[in-house]
Amino acid sequence: MTETSATAQPEPAIALSGVDLWLGRGAARVHVLKDIDLTIDRGEAVGLVGPSGSGKSTLLMVLAGLEKPDSGRVTVAGENLMQLSEDDLARFRGRHIGIVFQSFHLIPTMTALENVAVPLELAGAADAFARAERELAIVGLNDRLDHYPAQLSGGEQQRVALARALAPNPPILVADEPTGNLDESTGGTIVELLFDQQRERGTTLVIVTHDLELARRCGRTVRIRSGGIEGAATSRAQVLA
Ligand SMILES: Nc1ncnc2c1ncn2[C@@H]1O[C@H](COP(=O)(O)OP(=O)(O)OP(=O)(O)O)[C@@H](O)[C@H]1O
Ligand SMILES: [Mg+2]
Repeated sequence: MTETSATAQPEPAIALSGVDLWLGRGAARVHVLKDIDLTIDRGEAVGLVGPSGSGKSTLLMVLAGLEKPDSGRVTVAGENLMQLSEDDLARFRGRHIGIVFQSFHLIPTMTALENVAVPLELAGAADAFARAERELAIVGLNDRLDHYPAQLSGGEQQRVALARALAPNPPILVADEPTGNLDESTGGTIVELLFDQQRERGTTLVIVTHDLELARRCGRTVRIRSGGIEGAATSRAQVLA
């Protein structure tokens, strides 16, 4: 930025500070997230990497407002999620956060078109079906609108899931191993779609992945180990070498 005037610092997309979270009970109680501080700027693409069981999925659920930490602060798009009621949090998620899972999570009794359109309709969109059709065309599935998930390949199901996540135009998209159930070339198609859409819509991306190629495509990699951030990598300059 060349401006020297007192421009307000843009709010980060996501800011976590001092986040601690335990899961389970009794002997199975685990300190899953330990004093996490993490700031993600708007429009950034961040890859969360680390060993199995290190807490990546749990961290993603916390920053998507699907899991409440025991302590600390979670701020998304300037909203302190810790202060929202369950209903307000659900509405907030619907407007601000798209989510893609490794195992697609499509509704098996709904067609591809319905999987994308129905959540839009529930959110009050008047043109839900027309929008869903456009979103499915963007991911290359205009000829699969009436197929049920069981009639689609894994890659096609993930494209429907991506269309569903992007349809409300959320400023933030989080994905938990989006290519984890796909072969390399099908996964590559999903990766291209994710980054094309990030460029076009300016979406902030947070992606948990074991896929080195996908991690490399993210502007920044954050490593999780035993529930903590390795090297407290909170600056944009932490690019995977
Ligand atoms: N409900 C639960 N009760 C107790 N411990 C849990 C519970 N859910 C998760 N954990 C523990 O929390 C830790 C972090 O789990 P998480 O799923 O976030 O790991 P991950 O980094 O996503 O691993 P993977 O790469 O295998 O998906 C694990 O050690 C797991 O056993
Ligand atoms: Mg996981």
